[in-house]
Amino acid sequence: MKINSICCIGAGYVGGPTMAVIAYHCPNITVNVVDANIDKIKHWNNKDFNDLPVKEPGLGDIIKKVRNKNLHFTSDIKKAIENSQMIFLAVNTPTAKSGPAKGMGADLTNIINSAKLVAQYSKDPKIVIEKSTLPVRTAEKLKEVLKKYGNTDFQIISNPEFLAEGTAIKDLFKSDRVIIGGEDSVLGKKAVNHLVRIYSKWIPKEKIIVTNIWSSELSKLASNAFLAQRLSSINSLTSFCEKTGADILEVSKAVGMDKRIGGDFLSPSLGFGGSCFQKDILNLVYISRSLGLDEVADYWEQVIIMNDYQKKRFSNRILELTKSPETSTISVLGWAFKKNTNDSRESASIYIVRNLLINNCKINIYDPWVDVDKIKYDINYSLKQIRFKKSEIEIILKKIKIFNSIKSCIKNVSSIAICTEWDEFKEFDWKAAYKYVEPECIILDGRNIIDTKKIVGTNFRMYSLGR
Ligand code: NAD
Ligand code: UGA
Repeated sequence: MKINSICCIGAGYVGGPTMAVIAYHCPNITVNVVDANIDKIKHWNNKDFNDLPVKEPGLGDIIKKVRNKNLHFTSDIKKAIENSQMIFLAVNTPTAKSGPAKGMGADLTNIINSAKLVAQYSKDPKIVIEKSTLPVRTAEKLKEVLKKYGNTDFQIISNPEFLAEGTAIKDLFKSDRVIIGGEDSVLGKKAVNHLVRIYSKWIPKEKIIVTNIWSSELSKLASNAFLAQRLSSINSLTSFCEKTGADILEVSKAVGMDKRIGGDFLSPSLGFGGSCFQKDILNLVYISRSLGLDEVADYWEQVIIMNDYQKKRFSNRILELTKSPETSTISVLGWAFKKNTNDSRESASIYIVRNLLINNCKINIYDPWVDVDKIKYDINYSLKQIRFKKSEIEIILKKIKIFNSIKSCIKNVSSIAICTEWDEFKEFDWKAAYKYVEPECIILDGRNIIDTKKIVGTNFRMYSLGR
């Protein structure tokens, strides 16, 4: 088999950037990215390279170089599958909303449905690649589906993605490692080698690790669990610092300078967000319980419990420290779950705003990249989740105003909660801002990005997490 055409099902935060980078490094391979969402495909074909469905530094520049050359965003799923030798499945795998896995395990509907499409449209042998993050042993299920609905040979490979949003292009260009899990058979090894050859175009050979399929699937869940565990560990000490006079930034630096621990991923925050950490740990907990490993499940579940505690704690701090929170306005700066992305899935801001709304607060919101409609959708959805009726939600939503600049968002407010670490919040002239907020306005810095020295003499009150 010669690989001259590949297809990716799922044009989201993973499918779009990863395929753009493969197309960029492999000019002799045609890459077709398909999606069930036709509007999203149209958006990927937008003339304006700064306005794509996924906002990521550097993504527009890569797309500009390869789109309609060897990278195509298309809705013709049938043709894309038929013509490709290799098919990546990069569909979303959210936490199940119903059934036995409800609230814990991954909902595999999208991955099964995309495998059915592959089976249905494949006339000759294909290599099918799990790019989505999946429960361990999903490849077994995929094999069954492909066999049941298809008429040709399929080799399944696990190749999880480790990019982080906001740095996706950088991460894809210089991955710490690429993991490729395949079957221990002649055809399995051949399939793995095809994928190794693709990555070898830009990733050093020693960084490409070949494993068995189950190790590869588990390595992805384990990596996210380890990263999130670090965050819950450092965040757990912020309340400890506040009670003892220790400073979390000094503690984080001191701990991180131990080479065995390392300094990355130790920035305390109001709680981690994003579409993956919570879902992947819940999934790990669910699988552990299914295997009868309750102690293992309890251990990892604590990472989520600590994160929920941190979000609640920050939100309660806002209520405690705002003067008459029910009659004044609170400004929430940042809706994205981290800087340099337009993604707000599971962002701590959503939880915080919901809690403030339940407590009757009026809220101003500003985020540089997240669309106004997405912010409204997130709030609406989060209120529905706790069983608010449509009529109640309509009333509550009147308490929210969304702005297009920091300055307009903080005008006449009594408190300002910094929820995302955007550079523009850091660089803002806070000294001058004191003139247009309410007297004794408090800034609650959930990211520790504001240099407290800069607001000395302004009468701003300041709460810095863990300090
Ligand atoms: P996403 O929601 O941004 O994109 C998934 C896309 O798949 C959507 O556009 C959806 O319309 C499409 N889709 C779903 N079912 C389909 C079907 N049957 N046919 C065609 N299209 C279909 O999701 P994402 O953030 O790109 O994540 C995808 C997977 O990658 C998840 O398993 C996630 O855990 C994993 N992952 C995500 C990241 C990240 O940073 N977002 C990083 C590493 C791994
Ligand atoms: C994370 C992992 O870092 C990726 O390796 C993985 O591929 C991805 O999940 C996934 O599977 O989806 P991502 O969620 O995009 O990437 O972003 P992170 O940089 O990990 O940040 C996650 C959350 O933790 C954000 O809310 C961020 O603000 C927060 N965070 C991160 C902190 O609070 N402190 C830190 O020191 C680092």
